[in-house]
Amino acid sequence: MGILDGKRILVTGVLTDSSIAFHVARLAQEQGATVVLTGYGRLGLVQRIAQRLPETPPVLELDVTDDAHLASLAERVGAHVDGLDGIVHSIGFTPQDALGGNFLNTEWSDVAQAMHTSTFSLKSLTTALLPLMDRGGSVVALDFDNSVSYPIYDWMGVAKSALTSTARYLARYVGDRNVRVNLVSAGPLSTMAARSIPGFDELARHWPERAPLGWDVKDPEPAAKAVVALLSDWFPATTGEVVHVDGGFHSTGA
Ligand SMILES: NC(=O)c1ccc[n+]([C@@H]2O[C@H](COP(=O)([O-])OP(=O)(O)OC[C@H]3O[C@@H](n4cnc5c(N)ncnc54)[C@H](O)[C@@H]3O)[C@@H](O)[C@H]2O)c1
Repeated sequence: MGILDGKRILVTGVLTDSSIAFHVARLAQEQGATVVLTGYGRLGLVQRIAQRLPETPPVLELDVTDDAHLASLAERVGAHVDGLDGIVHSIGFTPQDALGGNFLNTEWSDVAQAMHTSTFSLKSLTTALLPLMDRGGSVVALDFDNSVSYPIYDWMGVAKSALTSTARYLARYVGDRNVRVNLVSAGPLSTMAARSIPGFDELARHWPERAPLGWDVKDPEPAAKAVVALLSDWFPATTGEVVHVDGGFHSTGA
């Protein structure tokens, strides 16, 4: 018996088998869930990666900044499952000019793209799928702690701060439908998105030495486990919350 037995979960953000979302989908299936994936852009690649899951799920196209994709999403998901109990938002993108120490020179158009894709999308994805969540459910998004500034992360850090706030407001507005909204704030993990951040290794190198529990940038499973736990019925009264899965790094001062 799994903690997601009978649950129908939509997982965004699978790109490679190092994607945090890939491990969420794998663990969710192992825990009894029926999973539907969405893929962005390289759909053939996402479909091939999906075959590495315990059961091959359907893959639906979704550019989360495309209003037409969002408008048809509930109907397309509804062709595979008769409702949803969970949504996983594992989406992030920042133009290169908004990262890597260029903070003072970044143009608004690049910041806007980062915020549209990485932040506003939590609201638009959730509202697109709310009609399928008539029994209530759980929305979980991936965050990166931004209670302080970090080198290199720049406007992505600002987008993540806004994501934290977006989750709190979303939780306020969907609570009366018994829908919970929570974030998992993961430590740095070596994924495609992370490797596209110039200087990621410099940012990540402090974690293993400072986190009380240590930290392995190559192991996305602890973050994925927390997402699955939040999707389950074991956090029935928790919403607007941030669960840190970073080896405890955020709790230390030096
Ligand atoms: N890797 C880390 O160090 C780390 C740490 C904390 C949080 N996160 C967050 O985890 C989430 C997943 O990232 P990841 O590290 O697994 O990397 P990843 O590259 O595997 O996943 C990022 C995903 O975002 C998707 N995406 C980008 N633009 C999109 C769009 N317009 N529409 C739909 N999807 C789009 C990509 O297709 C990809 O699947 C992101 O929100 C990221 O910020 C990552």
